[in-house]
Amino acid sequence: MSNAQTFPTILVTGGGGYVGSALVPALLKQGHKVRVVDTFWYGENVFADCNSHPALTRIAKDIRDTAAMKEAMRGVDAVIHLACISNDPSFELDPKLGKGINLDAFPGLVEAAKAGGVKRFIYASSSSVYGVKEQPDVREDDPPAPLTDYSRFKLECEKLLMKLGGGMTRVIVRPATVCGYAPRLRLDLTVNILTIHALVNRKIRIFGGRQMRPNLHVLDMVRAYEMFLAAPAEKIDGVPFNVGFRNETVENIAGIVKRTIGDEGIALEYVPTDDNRSYHVNSDRVRRVLGFEPKYNIEDAVRSIVEAYRAGKIPDPMTNPMYHNIKRMHQLSLG
Ligand SMILES: NC(=O)c1ccc[n+]([C@@H]2O[C@H](COP(=O)([O-])OP(=O)(O)OC[C@H]3O[C@@H](n4cnc5c(N)ncnc54)[C@H](O)[C@@H]3O)[C@@H](O)[C@H]2O)c1
Repeated sequence: MSNAQTFPTILVTGGGGYVGSALVPALLKQGHKVRVVDTFWYGENVFADCNSHPALTRIAKDIRDTAAMKEAMRGVDAVIHLACISNDPSFELDPKLGKGINLDAFPGLVEAAKAGGVKRFIYASSSSVYGVKEQPDVREDDPPAPLTDYSRFKLECEKLLMKLGGGMTRVIVRPATVCGYAPRLRLDLTVNILTIHALVNRKIRIFGGRQMRPNLHVLDMVRAYEMFLAAPAEKIDGVPFNVGFRNETVENIAGIVKRTIGDEGIALEYVPTDDNRSYHVNSDRVRRVLGFEPKYNIEDAVRSIVEAYRAGKIPDPMTNPMYHNIKRMHQLSLG
């Protein structure tokens, strides 16, 4: 049976964001009816050629609006919960707002899902819940040690889902840092930042360089969510899954960017930094349990941004706040 038969109607919170703008068209293509609940801080028309798809319903609401969420969840089969203040700096811009969205709204959302008849609740947590670990391979059974409120609340929501989400299949996904082109592009993530700097300034500033970063192509992120919809409940319920592709040093990522663009003139400039936080994530569990193999690599992510940039799809990359969460939140006075 296809995913669309098992879960005909899917609600994606935060579906108008970076990951959602790639995920929603893919779900529509698979035959799902998709409801997107989003404040649409990054624009309304982010689904490329699917903006007026008949199976797409946009609900321009805030997930903190309990009544709206109850209404939106009615008749939904599966939820993919992405809505979030989605990095440390934008969270810290207004910690009260961040907590309201990233933590306080969560129990109401889970209750609304249960009341609406949702069978599977997929939660986008983060591999940042582990904090900084010395060992080269951080696995799901290693004790989380989140370092910031953004990461602490991700972990709290995992626990709340376990506690309150009984009766639904509870799926906890801890993605690595996502990269590559999507219609609502984020240029505040490592691979994407380095690529756009190389293209626009022909210079990549490397802060430190030896820190490890786990990466995941946005199209593999989409494939992973599709796989979590397809997986039998007993294999995934309540088990956290890291989803990453390649751990690379920032210095190596810069080298990959330069080689992939193929411009010898791109300068690499090293800048000392105090921030030597290093993250290594092991994703064997998702491979072993679900057979998930990433299909795209960092080079593909770089190429996708280069192609989009050259095709004029990323206008004003350095100044347009739409690509930088913190700048956009400032612009909207959300902090
Ligand atoms: N992008 C990554 O590298 C990455 C890595 C690990 C985990 N994640 C998680 O995956 C999810 C998606 O990430 P993303 O990069 O697409 O983020 P994003 O910031 O691009 O998208 C978040 C979306 O949520 C919406 N939103 C925010 N607050 C809302 C509210 N109160 N009500 C309704 N909508 C609201 C925003 O308008 C935006 O469209 C997030 O939960 C993030 O923490 C992302």
